[in-house]
Amino acid sequence: MVQPDLLTRESGPTSRPGALTMLRNGLCWSGGAACLASVIYWQVILAEGAYFGPRAVQLVYRFGARHYDRVRASWQPEADARLQPWLARALAGCDQPLVLDVATGTGRVPFLLASSQPYAGYLAALDLTPQMLRVARQKLEPYLHPAQILWHQGEASRLPWPSGSFDLVTCLEALEYFPQPRRALAEMVRVLRPGGWMLLSKIPDAWARYLPGRAMTHRQLVTLLTEFGCVDVHVLPWQPGHYELVIVHTKTDNFA
Ligand SMILES: C[S@@+](CC[C@H](N)C(=O)[O-])C[C@H]1O[C@@H](n2cnc3c(N)ncnc32)[C@H](O)[C@@H]1O
Repeated sequence: MVQPDLLTRESGPTSRPGALTMLRNGLCWSGGAACLASVIYWQVILAEGAYFGPRAVQLVYRFGARHYDRVRASWQPEADARLQPWLARALAGCDQPLVLDVATGTGRVPFLLASSQPYAGYLAALDLTPQMLRVARQKLEPYLHPAQILWHQGEASRLPWPSGSFDLVTCLEALEYFPQPRRALAEMVRVLRPGGWMLLSKIPDAWARYLPGRAMTHRQLVTLLTEFGCVDVHVLPWQPGHYELVIVHTKTDNFA
């Protein structure tokens, strides 16, 4: 039987802590550990280090680069299969398309365009993390002539290309982690030629509240893109619970 004073006895210089104190301490420690684990999960897994700035994002991907493709091998092919028809549609009628993949990572879009059939166009692939670009470059070597692809290490909100350069701009699974997602979107629209296409991804609206200031809801994204002069904006299911696909078609005349 528990003695009454065992529950209430406090620790002093000579006495041992009571059961209640030990229970309270235990709860505090496990509560603290759970809070810390949630914050780490939120900031590192969900937000991919974005709130700590570009260096933190680079750090996450620097260590993730070697494992990135392997970790995603079980689900990415299905998502890519749903993406392929939209890539084909966006480039239909372009003999030598010019495509920009923003936050290319390990070269997802270049690989999809060039690995299954000969690709006659040109590509620019930009990413913040050199280690991700290194993996991408090695992966694409067998499929593209070096003159067909430009690898660029840089920031999505400062695209180093003239306005109206590309037939298609893609940015997959990355927009929410940019320090300035709206500015990056404005840049992507700027470098797109009139009548060009954009393929983006967004996280579902239910998740947007966990990335304040970064993620946009369906409505916010459509409003912003319409302000930028994009006429057709469609948000479609893509990777249920993770990402939706945003298909954007711009005006054929010049944007404001
Ligand atoms: C989840 S990965 C997506 C990669 C690829 N688009 C895909 O779908 O597999 C996110 C990528 O965004 C890059 N990234 C994060 N912030 C960036 C920024 N501000 N500018 C350019 N790239 C960035 C990271 O380095 C990383 O390679």
